[in-house]
Amino acid sequence: MPESELPQGMALTALEENFREDPYPILAEIRTRAPVLEDRELSRYVYTRHDDVKTILRDSALWSDPRKANPGSFTREFLGADMEREPSMLLMDEPDHNRLRRLVSKPFTPAAVARWRPQIQAVVKRVLDDIEEPEFDLIDRFAGPIPTVVIAEMLWLDASDHAQFKTWSDTSVKIAFNPMPGDAERVAGEAAQAALVDYFDREIEVRRKNLGGDLLSAMIRAEEDGDRLTKSEIISQCNLLLVAGNVTTTDLIGNGVKALLENPEQLALLRTCPELIDNAVEEMLRYDSPVTNSGRIANRTIDIGGCPVHSGESLSTSLAAANRDPAVYPDPDRFDIKRQDTHHQSFGGGRHLCLGAHLARLEAQEAILGLINRFEVLSASPRGYRYASAPSFRGMEEFWISTSAD
Ligand code: HEM
Repeated sequence: MPESELPQGMALTALEENFREDPYPILAEIRTRAPVLEDRELSRYVYTRHDDVKTILRDSALWSDPRKANPGSFTREFLGADMEREPSMLLMDEPDHNRLRRLVSKPFTPAAVARWRPQIQAVVKRVLDDIEEPEFDLIDRFAGPIPTVVIAEMLWLDASDHAQFKTWSDTSVKIAFNPMPGDAERVAGEAAQAALVDYFDREIEVRRKNLGGDLLSAMIRAEEDGDRLTKSEIISQCNLLLVAGNVTTTDLIGNGVKALLENPEQLALLRTCPELIDNAVEEMLRYDSPVTNSGRIANRTIDIGGCPVHSGESLSTSLAAANRDPAVYPDPDRFDIKRQDTHHQSFGGGRHLCLGAHLARLEAQEAILGLINRFEVLSASPRGYRYASAPSFRGMEEFWISTSAD
């Protein structure tokens, strides 16, 4: 492929069909060609090599706030508008980022998350109990409900509100991080976002009078050196947990099960050795990362691979490409749940390292073990699958699987 024909802009996202179906050969071509791809369409520099991605993500001086990107750039116009509307920790710089992160991070430590294991197991069991058909859509019936119900339970929302909560959450997430929602999608998404804000607003008032051991109470109670979260900050963090946590965890479970079904010897191995589940989930994260890209903005001239990038310019790290770099992972396109080198970039790194990583891991481990223990037979159904088209994410909207032997 000549240099000029390397994909650019939206063609390097799940909005374009080829990339959506299988981004890996395209990313491999880019990674082999040069360390940096200048993407003129989206005014950004794309990095695909593992060590470069790692270096950029861990460079704590780089900015995440899109309003610091050059005027007129895609990053500033699109993500910057999001920040004006609803400031999110994901896109904040110091000192604001550090302050918020310290105030909300306690419930997400490995020890705090581990205490939710019995509830997560119970959610997985309940969701599985509802599946009676021999053939079903894994996303709609299993991978989708699990994270939403888990977060609703962690927030101690009333069980009678769960269905409504899931609808608002799913609808609102569809427009988050999507630069080009359709008109109907945008109107529905904005209405759902407004409904969620009202809902959390009411819940916070009720909870203030009766604090408990839940996530919402933890945020109300959180205090560091006399500093506390305001009500609008708590609402904003709740929304971020939905946006950052639900679809990504659904995608991890969906992509992970797909990898197992496409590699039946790996599924058989996991059935025989369930103690491999932790490593298997790390390999699923490496092999088919739910988040494909993460961005930063240069705060100075950065020179990686002989291509200087100046202050205000946008850097996009391809987590998906980094995770398949043969310089780090032998035979990178092979899915191997016993692989020892699974230190992937799928949760990002540095200051913005995914806050929900331990929770996502635990949910995926319990979900996948629960599924394979429940069904002795599992295979992809001829009804097939359909990938979603959200830029920077990789996951399916539909994935039909069969549990019958014939
Ligand atoms: C498999 C599932 C998940 C994946 C692949 C994932 C991936 C990521 C990535 C790549 C980032 C860093 C972005 C950057 O470097 O700028 C991030 C940040 C974040 N994630 Fe996750 N995430 C997942 C699940 C979750 C869950 C379950 C939650 C919470 C319930 C969550 C909450 C967050 C938050 C709050 C941030 C922002 C952290 C900060 O800016 O300091 N994530 N996630």
